[in-house]
This record gives sequence, structure tokens and C-alpha cells, in this order.
Amino acid sequence: MTAQSEHDEGLEIAARIERRWAWIATALIALLVAVTIYTGLHWAMMPPSRVETADPRTLHVSGEFIESNLGAAAEADGSVTVRIVAQQYSFTPQCILVPAGTPITVRATSADVVHGFLVDHTNINTMLVPGYVSTFRTSFAEPGDHPMPCHEFCGTGHQGMWAEVKVVDRDTFFKQATNARRLSCVNQ
Ligand code: CUA
Repeated sequence: MTAQSEHDEGLEIAARIERRWAWIATALIALLVAVTIYTGLHWAMMPPSRVETADPRTLHVSGEFIESNLGAAAEADGSVTVRIVAQQYSFTPQCILVPAGTPITVRATSADVVHGFLVDHTNINTMLVPGYVSTFRTSFAEPGDHPMPCHEFCGTGHQGMWAEVKVVDRDTFFKQATNARRLSCVNQ
């Protein structure tokens, strides 16, 4: 074998390896795009937070987010919907009551500036943006208490902006739900 043909063979091997890696990189990108589209469409990972709108100036006057409609609502299909409003510097309700082992839909928005919405020891983590409804689905396996801090700097009182999520067992929750249209644990 001449030096020239050895050189050519080396180039051919390098080109083959490069082509293979180009395919692997392309496949990885395609996989990531597919995962993004799938989780986006199925709400599996990223909560859609800029789909529905809600006018922050009239939240307290009418519509879904008036105060009497906030808190946890038992739905006919056995699931629970929780509605929350964030404002400088608190959440309404300040204590969120939900049942364990139950599909929960959270619908939340902000009355003023961007706030953070995070429930400790869960993967619940989103932003509450004025003008938009943040919606996500979740469930809690076990009863227990979870702190819920605002984790988006929202002004001078930001570090004092906290609420709590109290997860109780299903029976306790639905027993209470027969007596109240909306539930929270604010006065419990
Ligand atoms: Cu609300 Cu930080």
C-alpha cells in the first residue's frame, strides 16, 4: 500500500465517522423537538401559560377569578379544580386544600405583576403572568403539607410572599366538599 492510498483510506474513515456523528446529532435534535411537541400538546411537562387570557383589572369584579370562586372545587367527574390569584404580596387563598390521589387542575393568574408559583417537593413550578391564565394538571400521592413560595422577584415584599398547600385524604376532602362550594384551609 502506498503512502497516498493509506492517506486516502484515512480520509475515507474520517468522513464515515463524521457522517455517522452528523446523523446522531440530527437524530438527537429531532428527538428533542418531538419530545417538546409531545409534552406541549399533552401538558405532560410544561404548563401552557399563555393560551388563555384574563383581564387583571377586572379579576375582582367578575368572571372566573372573583374571590368567591377561588379555592378548590369538586368536579362532577371526581377531579378537583383549584383557582388561585396572586397579588403583591400574597396568594388567594393563602392555604390551598386538595385531596390526595385525585387529578387536580390548577388555574391561576396574577392581579398585578409576574409572580412565581412553586410547590415544594413537587414538579409544580410556573409563572403567574398578569393577563394570562396558567393552567396545569397534577396530583398528590400522599397527604401532607407543602410550602408554596413565590419564586419570582415581584417587589419589596417578595420574600414574604408565601402560601401553603395542604393535601388531605380523599374522603376528608369530599366530605367537606358536600357542604362548601369552594374549599380552602385558610381558617382550619
Ligand atoms: Cu410574588 Cu415574588
